Amino acid sequence: MHQKKLTIPDIRNRKNGTPISEITAYDYPLARMADAAGIDIALVGDSLGMVVLGYPDTVSVTMEEMLHHSKAVVRGIEHALVVADMPFGSYNSSIPQAIGNANRMLKEARVDAVKIEGGVTMAETVAAIVRAGIPVQGHIGLTPQTATNLGGFKVQGKSAEAARQMIDDARALEDAGCFSIVLEAIPAPLAERITQAVTIPTIGIGAGPGCDGQVLVIHDLIGLYDRFVPKFVKQYTKINEQVVAALVQYKTEVESRAFPDEAHSFSMKAEELDKLMRLY
Ligand code: KIV
Repeated sequence: MHQKKLTIPDIRNRKNGTPISEITAYDYPLARMADAAGIDIALVGDSLGMVVLGYPDTVSVTMEEMLHHSKAVVRGIEHALVVADMPFGSYNSSIPQAIGNANRMLKEARVDAVKIEGGVTMAETVAAIVRAGIPVQGHIGLTPQTATNLGGFKVQGKSAEAARQMIDDARALEDAGCFSIVLEAIPAPLAERITQAVTIPTIGIGAGPGCDGQVLVIHDLIGLYDRFVPKFVKQYTKINEQVVAALVQYKTEVESRAFPDEAHSFSMKAEELDKLMRLY
């Protein structure tokens, strides 16, 4: 069934409306599943580095890796808006560097928008990318690319001062032209205050129920990444266990010769087989 492609105004208009569903996707099958479920935004997150490529964090992820996976996701999507993370080091040297790499995401991978981590300090860069015609989703709170500066993967904005700074970050991103902002790992009351303070949708991850939408890493949601499960993740299934059980059964059947059976094999006409037997 053909589904209408979502646009930036569609997402912006969901402020105070039906909550926005955003999920990460890193390849063609996951993208197709996200679309089949009617998800609103498919995020090619740089969490790719951890949950798909096995890096210890997101810092090593490259532009080439993001482009490669973004292209696969775009090929699988009809309906959702596709947003790609700008990886660490692809936008922090200069504004021309940031615009150049954001251009690559749109021209080469054909994503609809990019996501950039950082608040007030990144606002000038975000504004320049938006002026270049590229939609930007902001990301504040726990920003994994710079988690070391934040003291690790910890809840952010717990003091009144840090919370006030985060409201300033959100306002700066709105003024810079972001069409939405991801709020990661912050207290629920602060996420609610930020959501009221800006006119663009907020998308929470570990930010409580008061945001305009929610995002999760798909490998966490389906239980495909088993190294750790953050407190804010709800695992809707444990696909990992199902896959391991299937592989154990496969190995057992290979070893016992129960697989492949006749149903999974190809036959040959008897006369051809006879001819073959005569030849050898
Ligand atoms: O990279 C990612 O998956 C993200 C989400 C956690 C928002 O940035």
